[in-house]
Amino acid sequence: MKVNLNEQVALVTGGAHGIGNAIVHALVDNGAHVVIVDIDAEAGEEAARKVVDAGGTCLSLAGDVSDVKQMENVVEQVMGQLGRINILINNAGINTRGDRVPIHEYSLEDWQSIMQVDLTGVFITSRAVIPTMLKGSGGRIVNISSIAGLVPLRLQSAYVAAKAGVANLTKSMAIELGGQGILVNAVAPGSTLTRGTEALFYGPDGAYTENAASLLSHIPLGRPGKPEEIAHAVLFLVSPEASYINGTILVVDGGWTAGYVRDW
Ligand SMILES: NC(=O)c1ccc[n+]([C@@H]2O[C@H](COP(=O)([O-])OP(=O)(O)OC[C@H]3O[C@@H](n4cnc5c(N)ncnc54)[C@H](O)[C@@H]3O)[C@@H](O)[C@H]2O)c1
Repeated sequence: MKVNLNEQVALVTGGAHGIGNAIVHALVDNGAHVVIVDIDAEAGEEAARKVVDAGGTCLSLAGDVSDVKQMENVVEQVMGQLGRINILINNAGINTRGDRVPIHEYSLEDWQSIMQVDLTGVFITSRAVIPTMLKGSGGRIVNISSIAGLVPLRLQSAYVAAKAGVANLTKSMAIELGGQGILVNAVAPGSTLTRGTEALFYGPDGAYTENAASLLSHIPLGRPGKPEEIAHAVLFLVSPEASYINGTILVVDGGWTAGYVRDW
């Protein structure tokens, strides 16, 4: 898909790896000047360098989306260097790795850290960026939720609650900000092949482990998504062509949440 994002400055949180990195490439390939904001400073630098080496425009800033001061500082730096922010992609997110337990065994520590990054991080980053968009000519915000925020999964209490929060926060942002020229939408990915899901389900290079079989049986397309397939949905939502889309949750899940994949 080709759209025109020339002259647009886009900030992508968690852009060093996975889905965020695919979003960085999709935006750069369509003319945007991208700023990666990632807690993994080294990987952010490396990701930005790859973009620049390939002829794109990209810079990397270290930052933790759950830290108010750091995000305010990031916005200050971007405004100082580039003068505007037209697009914000709230992508940074974490989940429990490995052990998944029911709610009565769920640790408060995991609950708090996941909520702090996945939900409060969207609030903190948006709150820091929105005033710059209001002073400019509006903007686009895309929050990355998850199908887990729409149809709960078992044994991931904090993640499903945080991602449901992101879905509804997106709608409340859309009705507050749409009239002022800032369109806010979300993308809800299904299972996507990134380093986390590879470790949990799919094994290296998607050479599916046994663990993946039951998961894949829920997906009509019979495979996980690729990060690029999520990135293209994001690209559409920030494109000039999506000028009347505000407050939607675009599900990109190979049909997982469309219904039951079984005969009755
Ligand atoms: N992979 C999937 O199957 C899947 C499915 C649904 C939704 N998602 C969502 O997509 C988004 C990206 O996930 P991914 O699978 O690419 O993950 P990933 O772990 O591959 O990448 C996440 C990126 O966010 C960064 N990050 C983590 N905490 C941060 C913080 N506090 N501040 C700034 N950066 C931080 C990491 O360093 C990393 O670069 C997340 O919001 C995730 O919940 C992923």
